[in-house]
Amino acid sequence: MNCPSTPAGERNKKPITEALHPVFSSSTGDVLEIGAGLGQHAAAFAIAFPELNFWPTDPSSYHRASIDSWQQTLALPNLQPARSLDLRSANWHTKIAKAVHGKKFSAIICINVLHISPFAATEGLLFHAGALLKPGGLLYVYGPFKLNGTHTAPSNNDFDIYLRKRNPEWGLRDISSLKKIAGSGGFCLTQVKHMPANNLSLFFTVI
Ligand SMILES: C[S@@+](CC[C@H](N)C(=O)[O-])C[C@H]1O[C@@H](n2cnc3c(N)ncnc32)[C@H](O)[C@@H]1O
Repeated sequence: MNCPSTPAGERNKKPITEALHPVFSSSTGDVLEIGAGLGQHAAAFAIAFPELNFWPTDPSSYHRASIDSWQQTLALPNLQPARSLDLRSANWHTKIAKAVHGKKFSAIICINVLHISPFAATEGLLFHAGALLKPGGLLYVYGPFKLNGTHTAPSNNDFDIYLRKRNPEWGLRDISSLKKIAGSGGFCLTQVKHMPANNLSLFFTVI
């Protein structure tokens, strides 16, 4: 397979698929992926969960081309063409709702995005994702996070410093601040699952 991928994505796609399995294996409908990057997760999920229809998005045209190369190479019927979505845009949710003709998603997934984007992207996700989900729908967020102001591992502290040097608006987010915003956005944090390499899976459910 010559489609673009990252070593980290190759390593984490199996544990993430396993984390999603309890919900996704018994779900049908549509799943929106935000910040889908090169598309390797979207392709893996489309194969693992054939009853679900995946809508990958990314603000980068380079990444969208990569996502579409996975779709074209694997000819997956349940992987839609990549769309542009920037969480910092005030109307990202209304644009997506229009693009899918108002249909509601069973789940929204966002993997390794919130620490590599300004905090406005985190706010945009948690304030507006609920409007796109069916009642009881899932918002799944994966990545490294702080717990009550503390890093969960020294390597996460180093990573946070590295990110903030690259861009002062980037950095690991704290779960307590995510929970507050999620509450305003109509979500409840229903599960926190520890993942390999000091990452976490966060499961938010529409209240
Ligand atoms: C580290 S990559 C993760 C890609 C993929 N989810 C993965 O885990 O391999 C971060 C992704 O977030 C996207 N991104 C950055 N800022 C964003 C924003 N404001 N809204 C949506 N996506 C964003 C980037 O374009 C990039 O594809």
